[in-house]
Amino acid sequence: MCPPERELELSPETMRRMIDAAAERVVDHLSGLAEQPAIDVEGGAELSRVLAEEPPESATSYDELLDLLFERVIPKTYNTAGPGYLAYIPGGGLYHAAVADFIADAVNRYVGVWLPSPGLVQLEVNVVRWFCRMVGYPEEALGFLTTGGSLANWTGLVTARRERLPEQFLDGTIYAGDQVHHAVVKSAVLAGFPAANVRLVPSDELFRVRLGPLRKAIREDRAAGKTPFLVVGSAGTTNTGAVDDLEALADLAAAENLWFHIDAAYGGFFALTERGRERLQGLERADSLVLDPHKGMFLPYGTGCLLVRDGAALHRTHHIVADYMPQFQADPDLVDFCEISPELSRDWRGLRVWLPLKMHGLGVFRAALDEKLDLTEWACSELEKLDGIEIVARPQLSVVAFRLAPRGLDREATNRLNRDFLERINARRRVFLTATTIDGRFILRICVLSFRTHRERMEQGLDDIRAARGEALKGID
Ligand SMILES: Cc1ncc(COP(=O)(O)O)c(C=O)c1O
Repeated sequence: MCPPERELELSPETMRRMIDAAAERVVDHLSGLAEQPAIDVEGGAELSRVLAEEPPESATSYDELLDLLFERVIPKTYNTAGPGYLAYIPGGGLYHAAVADFIADAVNRYVGVWLPSPGLVQLEVNVVRWFCRMVGYPEEALGFLTTGGSLANWTGLVTARRERLPEQFLDGTIYAGDQVHHAVVKSAVLAGFPAANVRLVPSDELFRVRLGPLRKAIREDRAAGKTPFLVVGSAGTTNTGAVDDLEALADLAAAENLWFHIDAAYGGFFALTERGRERLQGLERADSLVLDPHKGMFLPYGTGCLLVRDGAALHRTHHIVADYMPQFQADPDLVDFCEISPELSRDWRGLRVWLPLKMHGLGVFRAALDEKLDLTEWACSELEKLDGIEIVARPQLSVVAFRLAPRGLDREATNRLNRDFLERINARRRVFLTATTIDGRFILRICVLSFRTHRERMEQGLDDIRAARGEALKGID
C-alpha cells in the first residue's frame, strides 16, 4: 500500500495506463465528431445541478471519472470541434496541440523567465517571430502568447496607454468603429478608462469604420480638452467579417499622432493566403495587433497573441523590479517573457503552436484557410439563388451574413421570421449558426473557420437552410 503522502507520485505503469485510457476515449470521440449533433444542450441546467458537489474526501476510480466526462459531460455541448460548427467564430482544436499541452504540462518547466528554460523559451519566441513575419512586422517587433484575444487586446491597450499617456490618463480617448468586438471596449474599461472615453464611430455600408466621422470625433475631443491617443481597427469583425480600411486608418493615426491598434483576432491568419493578404493591407502598419491562434490557426481554446511593432515598448510597459527575481537578459534576442507581458508563472503555451506548425509547415494552414474563403464564397452564391434571402454582408473573409426579407413585412415581423428561420436550421443539428442584430435587424451569419469543415458539410448546411426557409415562409402565408 502506498502511503497517502506519496500517492500523487504515480508509477510508470499507472502513468502509461492513464494516458492510454484517455487517448482511447479521445480518439473514439474525435473519430465520431462528424456524426455527433452540431448542438446538444437540452437539459444543461439539470446537468449543472447534478454535477455540483462538495469537495471530495474519498477517491473515485479513474475509469468512472472518464465515463462521467465522456458519457455525460462532454456530449451536452455545442460541438465546437465538429465540422458543422459555423457559429460565432469557430476554433477547431488541433489534436497536435493537445499532445503538445500534455508534454508541456507533464515536464512542467518554467518559461516566465529565460534562464531556467532557454530552449523552451526560444521555441515560443520562434512562434512569435513567425507571426511577426507573417504580418509584415520589422525585426525589432516582439510579442507574446496570451490565453485569448480578450487578454491580448487588453495588454495592447495598456501598452498604448503607457506609451502615449501620462500616469494621470483619464483624459485619454479611444476610437473604434461601431462594429468593433466588445473585448476592445472591455479592455479599455479594464485598462482604467471610463467607458465614455471610448468613441464608437458609425460604419459604412460594408460595416467598416467611416473616416469622416472618425476625424470629426477626434477634432471635437481635442477642442474639448481631451487627449485622443488611440485608434483601433478591426481586421475581421465578429458580426460580418468586415475589414476596416487599415491603410487609411494607419494614415489617419500617423496624421493625428495616435497609437494604431488592430484587432485581427479573427481575421489575422488569413494573411497567410494571397487573398487574405490583399484584403488585410495595412496590417503591418499597426503599432500593436492581436491574433487568435485558437481561431485562424485552429488551435484549442486558450491561445491568443499580442504583437507590438516596437518590441521595446513591451519592455517599457511591463518592467517592474523585485529583489527576489533572477538576473534578466540584456541580449534582446534572449527573451524574459515576464519582462514583456503581465504574467510571471504560466504554462508553456508556445509548444501547442510550435508542434503543429513544425509537423506540417505553413503551407497546410494556408491551404486550409484558402478552403474556408472558397467555402464562404460558395455559400454566399448559393444563398443568393434563394428567393426572399437578402445578403446583408458579402464575404470579406469567411463570414457571410444574411436574412429572410420578404416584401410587406415590418421590422418586427421580419425579425420574428428570422428567429424562426434560425431555429429551424439549427433544429436539424447538422450545422449550428448564430445570429446578430445590426441596426435593429436580426441577421443570421455563417462563419467558416474549422479545419474540419469541408464542402460536404457546407452542402448539408445549405440543404438545411433551403428546407428551413421553405418552412419559415410557409408559416407567414
Ligand atoms: C474580432 C474578435 N476580437 C476579439 C475577440 C475576443 O477573443 P477571445 O474570445 O479569444 O478572448 C473575438 C472573439 O471571438 C473576436 O472575434
